[in-house]
Amino acid sequence: MDISAIKKLVEDDMNAVDSLILRRLESDVVLINQIGHYIVNSGGKRLRPMIVLLAAQALGYTGDKHIGLAAIVEFIHTATLLHDDVVDTSDLRRGQPTANNKWGNSSSVLVGDFLYSRAFQMLVSIGQVDVMGTLSNATNVIAEGEVLQLLNRNNPKTTEQQYLEVIRRKTAKLFEAAAWLGAILAKADEDAETAVKEYGMQMGIAFQLVDDALDYSADAETLGKNIGDDLSEGKPTLPLIYAYCQGSSAQQKLIRQAIEQGGLDDLSEIRLAIESVGAIEYTMRAAQQAAEKAKNLLDVLPNSPSKTALQALADFSVARQY
Ligand code: IPE
Ligand code: IPE
Ligand code: MG
Ligand code: MG
Repeated sequence: MDISAIKKLVEDDMNAVDSLILRRLESDVVLINQIGHYIVNSGGKRLRPMIVLLAAQALGYTGDKHIGLAAIVEFIHTATLLHDDVVDTSDLRRGQPTANNKWGNSSSVLVGDFLYSRAFQMLVSIGQVDVMGTLSNATNVIAEGEVLQLLNRNNPKTTEQQYLEVIRRKTAKLFEAAAWLGAILAKADEDAETAVKEYGMQMGIAFQLVDDALDYSADAETLGKNIGDDLSEGKPTLPLIYAYCQGSSAQQKLIRQAIEQGGLDDLSEIRLAIESVGAIEYTMRAAQQAAEKAKNLLDVLPNSPSKTALQALADFSVARQY
């Protein structure tokens, strides 16, 4: 099953999610509408809402709360992107200038706040305490992940373990919440709930590992983001951590300085070092392993097109070029 077949499976629900997103973006403050529509209409992959919809479907949910929850998850994701691009001083996202590039940092941060708080208003209207707990906890952990990452910035001694802790929190936690919400709505039994939740976590780990590989190996036009954003911020992601451990002493020196100082002056040399030690392959293997775990976890679910789609989504996360 490829990504277009997966999308087809949730097409009607996703249309409902998109129109709810547009409805709930509205504010009488013009700049909020402007920036909100700009980012929401810029063509995100909608993976997290897709997971909410598919997990609910795979576990036999028949109500309509999955639409609202999928929209809420996408709002939270969008808020993190607005904030993340400020923190990372990124200029390009989804193939167009970032909101911070177009409107400045203050506007991006504040509209991010609007989206977070709108998500929580919507969450209250769903009226389920277990669901509120899941999403408020995930949002809190994402913030911890971004702060932990900040603490590792410019530190060449950051370990693979520390890096994994960052990506679990900043990225995988929202994937975990998305999948888990489907199970909560469907009142799945404990085994299925745990499996689906852990699927989200492993899928999110795979997703961020690939994101960090693509930051060195992709082509900016296809990716829709600039290459080298992580290096430019002195962010020790796995390709760099591995190359630092495995490289020659000259390469170690080069990587240490690049992490400590940030900037893109040495990008092509660093890319050569990363290539020469097989750091992209190493990162992609780790992603592949997490995706396999994610897929296997779903074995306990009854077979269905939505289960197959969730498994295919794990493969897509690894194979993707954007
Ligand atoms: C980007 O996520 C942020 C990361 C966690 C790497 P996506 O790649 O899912 O972003 P969009 O929504 O498709 O643009
Ligand atoms: C994004 O991590 C994580 C969150 C948005 C919380 P990155 O900084 O790697 O994502 P991109 O590459 O900017 O999309
Ligand atoms: Mg970023
Ligand atoms: Mg990235």
